[in-house]
Amino acid sequence: MIQVDISHVWGQLSLPDLLATEKDVFAAHKTLTEGTGLGNDFLGWLKLPTREETQELRRIRAAAQRIRANSDVFVVIGIGGSYLGPRAAIELLQGVNHNIGKGKGDPQIFFAGNGLSTRAWNELCRLLEGKDFSVAIISKSGTTTEPAIATRALLGMLEQKYGVADAKERIFAITDPTKGALRQMATEAGWETFVIPANVGGRYSVLTPVGLLPMAVAGIDPMEVMAGAADAMERYDLRSFENPVWLYAAIRNLLYRNGKAIELFESFEPGFRMFGGWWQQLFGETEGKDGKGIFPVTAELTADLHSLGQMIQQGQRNIFETMVRFDPPEKRAVVGPDAKNLDGLNYLEGKTLDFVDEQAFQGTLAAHVDGGVPVITMQMGQLNSEKLGEMFYFLELSCGVSAYLLGVNPFNQPGVEFYKRNMFKLLGKPGYEA
Ligand code: PA5
Repeated sequence: MIQVDISHVWGQLSLPDLLATEKDVFAAHKTLTEGTGLGNDFLGWLKLPTREETQELRRIRAAAQRIRANSDVFVVIGIGGSYLGPRAAIELLQGVNHNIGKGKGDPQIFFAGNGLSTRAWNELCRLLEGKDFSVAIISKSGTTTEPAIATRALLGMLEQKYGVADAKERIFAITDPTKGALRQMATEAGWETFVIPANVGGRYSVLTPVGLLPMAVAGIDPMEVMAGAADAMERYDLRSFENPVWLYAAIRNLLYRNGKAIELFESFEPGFRMFGGWWQQLFGETEGKDGKGIFPVTAELTADLHSLGQMIQQGQRNIFETMVRFDPPEKRAVVGPDAKNLDGLNYLEGKTLDFVDEQAFQGTLAAHVDGGVPVITMQMGQLNSEKLGEMFYFLELSCGVSAYLLGVNPFNQPGVEFYKRNMFKLLGKPGYEA
């Protein structure tokens, strides 16, 4: 189980405060699992994890094998919930430089359609020059502007390079089972499709083909990810404060009620940044409504201690932190000798890098707590595919419980439409003139 340690929040909260929330947390968890709350038509993610190799999972593996064999590059088109999960998974398990040195057999994976930058588009075109590539279009609606523009352009490039018939074999659509523009395009063109269940919203979709196909192309076994999530589905169903889901949801809620309006979700792993981005969307879009919600921010330690550290230590006291820790990998690095010792590091000679990292973590924790910042820690254990599945499910469940505790609908995002309306009006989209 993921260990959630709340011993570093007690300066700000007390055990009776926590115990007093028990009835509310129980009710929030029950509302979620029994589907009696707001947004209950979007609860399909609760039951996605499986240990069985379903037909869909077999098709994912088969498609991934074909893509790996015939492509130097796999381009994943999508934005928001149709983008962050797969990128988070790949970067967390394989690092931010995972593409370097890759090609046919183990393709590079690039993401497109997650913005409107011409520079990013030009860069992608340069990276695709002379390369064999395949494309996954991920969109529940098929009409989201950013991915739709990228889709149009990449389809044109594929058809020009391979001809319409062969291009078809390199296009995979991940979308709603029956409705939406992408479903219609895929049906008309005869592309292979995978389903985002109608009752699973974007930010809860990482354990569908949205996350699983790109992971499989990256060489991550989707069955291992699902096994970890299936474990989580069973283990985190516990109805008591022995459940780390309860602890995380209850403590962040209490801290919020005590004026802590910002949560910094951090790890000491550079590969965690996109995972933090996935978490940021999950909690931000789920809770930020009706004038309420904790503002979610992700950071990378120790790097950001040299930028945000000052603010965390001595700035406005409206933040709390959630520090995520992993066990060190088997292969260790050791600080070497230097006869001159000009850098003064000889006192660390022979020590492992993870030992230094652990002291940095403990030192940071103590400093921030002393500075009046409550810190929740999450000990994840070893980082692998199963753990990744467990983390995704654990955080989704925590988020659902937390949002019902806060009293908001966890599964809508009405605010996201506002920028779109203005943009459509400025672009002259028919129907948005007024
Ligand atoms: O969480 C969400 O629902 C959003 O972030 C969507 O995933 C995002 O807007 C993309 O939508 P679509 O998949 O329809 O292109």
